[in-house]
Amino acid sequence: MTLKIPYEDQLHADTVAFLSAQPKQLLIGGRWTPSLSGKTFVTNEPSTGLPLAEVYEAQPEDVDLTVADARAAFEKWRKVTPYQRERLLHKLADLIEKHSQVLAEIETLDNGKPIGAALNIDVPSTVEMFRYYAGWPTKIEGGVKPVSIPNRLNYTLREPVGVVGTIIPWNFPLSMISWKLGPALAAGNCVILKPAEQTPLSAVYFCELAIQAGFPEGVISLLNGAGEVTGAALVAHPGVDKIAFTGSTEVGRLIMKAAAGNLKRVSLELGGKSPHIIFDDADLETAIPYAAGSIFGNAGQSCNAGSRLLVQRKVYEQVVEAVANSAMHIRVGVGMDVGTDMGPLTSLEHYQRVTRYIELGQQAGASVRFGAQRPSGVPQGGYFVSPTIFENTTDDMAVVREEIFGPVLVATVFDTLEEVAQRANNTPYGLAAGVWTRDISRAHQLAGMLAAGTVWVNCYYQFDPSSPFGGYKQSGFGRDMGHEALEQYLNTKSVWVGL
Ligand code: NAI
Ligand code: MG
Repeated sequence: MTLKIPYEDQLHADTVAFLSAQPKQLLIGGRWTPSLSGKTFVTNEPSTGLPLAEVYEAQPEDVDLTVADARAAFEKWRKVTPYQRERLLHKLADLIEKHSQVLAEIETLDNGKPIGAALNIDVPSTVEMFRYYAGWPTKIEGGVKPVSIPNRLNYTLREPVGVVGTIIPWNFPLSMISWKLGPALAAGNCVILKPAEQTPLSAVYFCELAIQAGFPEGVISLLNGAGEVTGAALVAHPGVDKIAFTGSTEVGRLIMKAAAGNLKRVSLELGGKSPHIIFDDADLETAIPYAAGSIFGNAGQSCNAGSRLLVQRKVYEQVVEAVANSAMHIRVGVGMDVGTDMGPLTSLEHYQRVTRYIELGQQAGASVRFGAQRPSGVPQGGYFVSPTIFENTTDDMAVVREEIFGPVLVATVFDTLEEVAQRANNTPYGLAAGVWTRDISRAHQLAGMLAAGTVWVNCYYQFDPSSPFGGYKQSGFGRDMGHEALEQYLNTKSVWVGL
């Protein structure tokens, strides 16, 4: 298939060269290869809706081959010293940094996000994550246990679980690679990466860099393809020891069931409907841009988006007016244009889903404070929606209860701490929450009361490789980042010695 490269005159020569070589192949046993069946799929450029690249789709037989190669590779990889693993992870981080521009352009073209965000957030945070985990291989320790049986020595060994399948979403493709592969590789596992079919490309370039960094054959494999085909085959495979997943709660459930066959380990980072709570004593000047940024950043396509804004009565009107004003000034446009604040949504399917929610909100009687229209001056065929704010909602409406995963905010008023805690927790999700107040005891009280894996007080959307991130309730279990993530990729062996 010959495809016209969009925005070609704005791209780095290496990006053009990368996009010109198609179809993109699978990485199996250290070799780039077509799928055995020759089957391919197409990924689109979201600002035009036009095809961007053709990619080979891994079928179950490709998954079988990959798992067999990864298992063989694991027997060699487990003998590589911690220091060598550290060196490889550092080399990989350096190469990602060196090729930041190309990776950012690929991410923007495939996902739609503004190039500034890709360049200043996605790529550097990926580099940081790999550097953080590069520090770990030489620090993973067992312990000597104070057992009370005479003449016995007991100690523990921390060992990699083996072959890890990682299934990631399309909203932050590169970052998600680093969240899973950083700890999995640091712990000494082999990894099979299955990116989202909406954004398969940055993973291909990433794997080219991993080969350059010198990772041995079969330690990192790449299988692009559809969730129900490639993803499902990986999850069901008896040769896979663990699945690390980020995506929808619905698919999280399917994965848990499918993983039961060989009782593989599962960690799930799923959806959210996170409350963002502003009390009337808060520093509003700081809180307001965070309230807007937490839902409109990345076009709302974040699991931790602050999608429910709860504002105390006295300042409700002032806060919502200011957030609406911020929404009005967001420049919605093409990701490759440097002036763009908010790009299109990533896929047509998702665009239809988000616009359906906006209609549902209106039908249910919520009032539109801002947006709910197609933005003007954007290319035909692109998946653009404008930032949207709903008011006068009830807690049973779909727009209040369900994850929309778009730039759609629901604003409501509250009076008391007890009320807001109850309403904030009135959701099947429990990923994140934000609290703004100058009252220190109220802040800590609420931090304890909120059923969420992350609570941000007087800030929002803060991430650091050392701080664990994950869900309560139906937002999943297991943690990404920190030493907590590392634990999930390790087994503990207890060794007894008769003295
Ligand atoms: P999804 O959960 O279907 O996709 C995430 C990943 O799972 C992709 O790599 C996909 O190929 C894979 N997958 C899908 N079905 C699978 C299966 N049966 N077995 C194994 N892997 C499978 O999410 P989708 O459909 O792209 O988006 C739907 C909704 O999910 C979004 O509107 C959003 O609400 C939520 N979502 C949440 C994310 C998060 O960060 N927590 C990320 C992406 C979506
Ligand atoms: Mg899906």
